[in-house]
Parts: sequence; structure tokens; C-alpha cells
Amino acid sequence: MRTADGTNLHALQDYLGLHLSRDGLEPLNRQLYRHLRGAILSGLLARGSALPASRSLCDAMNLGRNTVLHAYGQLEAEGYVVSRAGAGTYVSDALPDPPPVGTEESQAAPSPLPLSKRAQSLLKGIQQRGSPETPTFAPGMPDTSTFPWALWLRLQQRHQRSAQGTDLGYLSNGGHPALKAALATYLRLSRGVNCEAEQILITSSMQQAFHLVALATADAGDTVWMEEPGYPGARFAWQAAGLRIEPVATDAEGLRWHGSEPDPRLIYVTPSHQYPLGCVMSLARRHALLQEAAERDAWLVEDDYDSEFRHDGRPLAAMQGLDRQGRVIYLGTLSKVLFPALRMGYLVAPPDLVEPLRILQARLMREGSYIEQATLADFIEDGHFGAHLRRMRGIYAKRQSKLREALAAHLGDWLADSESPRPDQIALLGGAAGMHLTLRLPAGLDDRLFSQQLGDMGMLAPALSGYCLRPPPFPGLVLGYGGADDATLMLAAVRLARFLAEVLRRHNIDGRQ
Ligand SMILES: Cc1ncc(COP(=O)(O)O)c(C=O)c1O
Repeated sequence: MRTADGTNLHALQDYLGLHLSRDGLEPLNRQLYRHLRGAILSGLLARGSALPASRSLCDAMNLGRNTVLHAYGQLEAEGYVVSRAGAGTYVSDALPDPPPVGTEESQAAPSPLPLSKRAQSLLKGIQQRGSPETPTFAPGMPDTSTFPWALWLRLQQRHQRSAQGTDLGYLSNGGHPALKAALATYLRLSRGVNCEAEQILITSSMQQAFHLVALATADAGDTVWMEEPGYPGARFAWQAAGLRIEPVATDAEGLRWHGSEPDPRLIYVTPSHQYPLGCVMSLARRHALLQEAAERDAWLVEDDYDSEFRHDGRPLAAMQGLDRQGRVIYLGTLSKVLFPALRMGYLVAPPDLVEPLRILQARLMREGSYIEQATLADFIEDGHFGAHLRRMRGIYAKRQSKLREALAAHLGDWLADSESPRPDQIALLGGAAGMHLTLRLPAGLDDRLFSQQLGDMGMLAPALSGYCLRPPPFPGLVLGYGGADDATLMLAAVRLARFLAEVLRRHNIDGRQ
């Protein structure tokens, strides 16, 4: 399309005639600018060639003068055309050449740039979860159907209406002061955490707290002891920070180290309800671990993710309450007690760590929403949090026992009545707290394959192997019972048990020795 004024105006007229639309959805000056720019970039309008005089284009295309002047002006401002006084408007000579038409370069999609080595290594082995229609058994998912939404929205609207000034700007207080105060009281009374409100930092989930803690306390190459099996979310954060993970086995009393492990900078544990096996760390083991951390100059990261839902016996206070050396960083989340999309968690830092963590959070991640945080503060202070907790505790306790009954009814002799089964038996582990049980499978079964087969049936029951860096102590499945309602859960339990019984028969596993 060689366009000297008046010479190839017809070609441009045809091209624009095909592309300009008068349906009023996009202003004509914008369309004209866009299509002329497209013609220039693709080489239809050659470098150095003249654009028609604005008047000629107006007449030819039946456009208003301002429409054309506006489009030309925009192209000139962006450097696509230059106007020469008295001589007209020309396509800039300084633009890069368009790819030759018909060549591979002009047709092939650009090849993607490689990801960083860090991302490649983090993403390796991560399986994209499908989204089964009913994600029954998805661990960590609470029941959101019982949440008092109307009440929450009323509290939230009150804060939305009154929010002003600094509450709406960039914040760097480590969280809303009212929420920090409410949480400090709750943690002191309910979890035995030894803290002042100033030691609390509100994070957008515990996941963010893992990143912050790693950033503030450990350097790439430092060692973190991690329970094996353990929480993959924490493992992911440690790996992203370049830490060396030392898997440490657990027994009925919790983390069981031998002393020959390399010195850790961090020790990550879930003492109230080991994730995912479910044991509670004994008092003796807690004292020994605090001592070990002090001797090895390590920070102890205590993940107290779901101990609010205690179903069996009195809860043990958090390990943080036993700490006399300022070694424990206590982490909590509201994902289980309320709902995950709230994206709210918190950490209680030893006094010396509070300021560095607060500044790192403000600079790198920014603080969360003060309106949500103020809403939660009211929710706690007005007693709704406690009431919701009590209600959910009842629901989950009942649901867990129904799940146990349903599995027992269909698994009969295969199911051991203790947590130490024979190798050819099945056992249900954990359940003293929280919203999941771990189903221990007979030795020799491939839990990944089994989990995959359940996935094909619409159930999301992750394999225990996925929680381990080394071969798992035994094959197993993690069964969340928080997210699905009773009827759905019972139906899924029967399907799972029948399928498992079929697999056991196929493997000639008797379970009745
Ligand atoms: C053991 C454990 N820790 C921490 C979390 C963190 O939750 P969030 O990042 O949603 O606050 C979870 C969630 O499932 C968990 O299972």
C-alpha cells in the first residue's frame, strides 16, 4: 500500500473501509488510530511513505476532521509518524522493519523465555490438581456453609462506612491494632501463648508468614529441620528461600531427632497436631526440643494451624508458652477456623524479631486490608468468634466419628482398632484435633496410584508419599472431612471403602491373621 497523498488513497480507503466500524462501541478516532498503527507495524504503510492529507481522508472515509486530526496526533505523539511543516504527515523512518511477509518469523509464535532455575526446580514434580466436581476429602478445607455471613457483612459495612484517612493508605503497623489486641487476648487465654499485642504481625495467610520468617532468619543454604511427613506448603516456602531441608522422622511423641543431623537455622514443627499424621507432641519432647534449639542456635517455628478444633481430651498449650529463651516463632491461621479466602494469618514473634519482620512485610509484601482486619477484631471481641468455634467444633467432632463408622462398616477386619496395625491392616491415624484423618494403608500398596484412582472418581485424597521427601513410613491417604457436608462425605466414604476393599482383595491382603 504505497500511500503518497492522492496516489494510493484508494488502497488505504479500502483497508480502513474493511476495518472501521460505526456501531458506536469504540470511538472512530480510536479505531482510526489503531488501524493506522496496525498498517504501519505490519508494513502495509511503508517507512517514509506519506499519509493522505487529513482533509482527503475525511472526504474519502466520510469522517469528521477532528477524528482524523486526533488519530494523526496520537500516532505522532507515539512516534509512528512525523509531520513536516507544509509537506504533510509521513510514516517514521526510525521504526524497526516489519518481519518479511510469509516468512516463518512472521508466522511462528515467539518461543517462550525460560523460567528461572529456581522456579523450574520449585515447579518440578508439582501436579496440577484437577477440579473434581465434589472435592470430597480435600484436606484443610473447612465447612463454609455455616459461617454467619449476614453478621460478618454487617460488621464489615460498619467499617467500610467509617474507614477514612490513614486506614485507606499504605500501612506499616504489622496489622490493625484492634485485631492484634483481640488476638493477643485470645492466644493468651486459649492457647497459653505468652505475648503482648505488639509482638503480633497480621499476615495474609500462614503461607506469607513462612516466607517472612525464612527471609528474616535464614540464608540460602541454611538448614531447616522439617517433620517427615510434613506440610508441603511450608516445605515449598523453605525451598523457595533456598534452604536445605533436613527431613526428621516423627513418632508417637512428635519430632524424633537423633543428634547427628546438621545444625539447623530453623526447626519447623506442628506440635499440637502433627500434620498430617495427627500425633500431639509430648511435654517431655517439647522441653527437649526447646533445649535442642537453644543449644544449636536455631529458631523454632511452631505451626498451630488447627488446634482450635480439639476433639479428644484437654488441649496442650502452645509450645511458645514454654519458651524461656525467645526462640519460638508462633504461627496461626484463620483459614481453618473461618475460611481460606479470608487470607488471614498471624505470627507471634520474639521481641527482637518484631521490628525486622514488620518492616520486611511492609516493604516487600504490604499489609492486608484494614477493613477486613477491623471486622475480624469486632467479630472476636463481640463473642461471635468463640460461638462459631464452639459450633464448628461440634460439627467436626460428629463428622469425624461418622466417617470412622462408615469406613469401619465397610472395611471390617481390615481396619485395626489401634494406631499400630499389623502390616496387612489399615488404621485411622490422628483425629485428636482438626479436620482430617490419615488412613494408613497396608505395606506394599502404591498410595499415589490409589489416590489418582480416587481422583478419577471425584475424590481428592492426597497420598502420604506426597508429604515426604524420603520414602514414606507407610503408604497412606490424607482424608479431610471439613469441606463436604455430612451426606456427601458419607457417600464418598462408602465409595472409598468399597474401592479399597476391592484393591485389597486383588492384592490378596486378608487382614484377618
Ligand atoms: C499444617 C498447615 N499449616 C499451615 C497451613 C496454612 O494455611 P494458610 O496458608 O491458608 O493460612 C495449612 C493449611 O492447610 C496447614 O495444613
